[in-house]
Amino acid sequence: MPAKLSVNINKLATIRNARGGNNPDIIQAAKDIQNWGAEGITVHPRPDERHIRYSDVRNLKQVVNTEFNIEGYPDKRFLELIAEIHPEQVTLVPDPPDVLTSNAGWDTIANQTLLQDIISEIKSSGSRVSIFLDANPFMVEGAKKCGADRIELYTEQYASHFHTDAEAAIRNYVFTANEAENAGLGVNAGHDLDLNNLHYFAKNIPQLLEVSIGHALVCDALYYGLQNAVQMYKIRLNPEFGSI
Ligand code: PXP
Repeated sequence: MPAKLSVNINKLATIRNARGGNNPDIIQAAKDIQNWGAEGITVHPRPDERHIRYSDVRNLKQVVNTEFNIEGYPDKRFLELIAEIHPEQVTLVPDPPDVLTSNAGWDTIANQTLLQDIISEIKSSGSRVSIFLDANPFMVEGAKKCGADRIELYTEQYASHFHTDAEAAIRNYVFTANEAENAGLGVNAGHDLDLNNLHYFAKNIPQLLEVSIGHALVCDALYYGLQNAVQMYKIRLNPEFGSI
């Protein structure tokens, strides 16, 4: 099974918010993105609501008929939102409120008790839980002990070294994905994946179940159109879907 493509639509909300109106209409965009073949919609509400708003998440719940993945730091407000929406998947990230974008995976050893409690609370309301992890096999055991169902590999390091030495760039991701598989955890990935680096990543991480991609896909949509961009990313995940 090729990995699923979940499109992170935060960037569309950033463009909308720049003018204060409803253009682009992210609800319509989510519907279209799904019709064009994406298998999931991802959002990452942040406390200052500078891109996706909490009200957007409630409205999206009505139209997402693929997998709804909500990412975020598990503060009280986030957990209340999750309990209300109970999306298919929750991806926990350890980022502080003011950070520009997610910039590290969890330390699953230092945060074990916190994560254990939060994960069991989220799972009891019916969502799968994935936790954002650096490519560090030592963090996998901690993820398992916390009760996570999946890990999301934080791919920024891979993306930033891919062009100089792809084999070296992916090495720790292969180790970490193998470790996750041995521990019975599913493997997702995201951050800075793009049309250049996605295929090599998917080819070398056979455990990959899902990628969430936002920034590069929306940038590519400026040149190719959103429908084409969604399809191009799907083809990068699985060349059997067509050719670019
Ligand atoms: N995964 C997580 C946890 C993220 O925070 C983000 C960015 O919001 C992504 C994946 C997607 O990253 P990008 O926008 O670079 O594709």
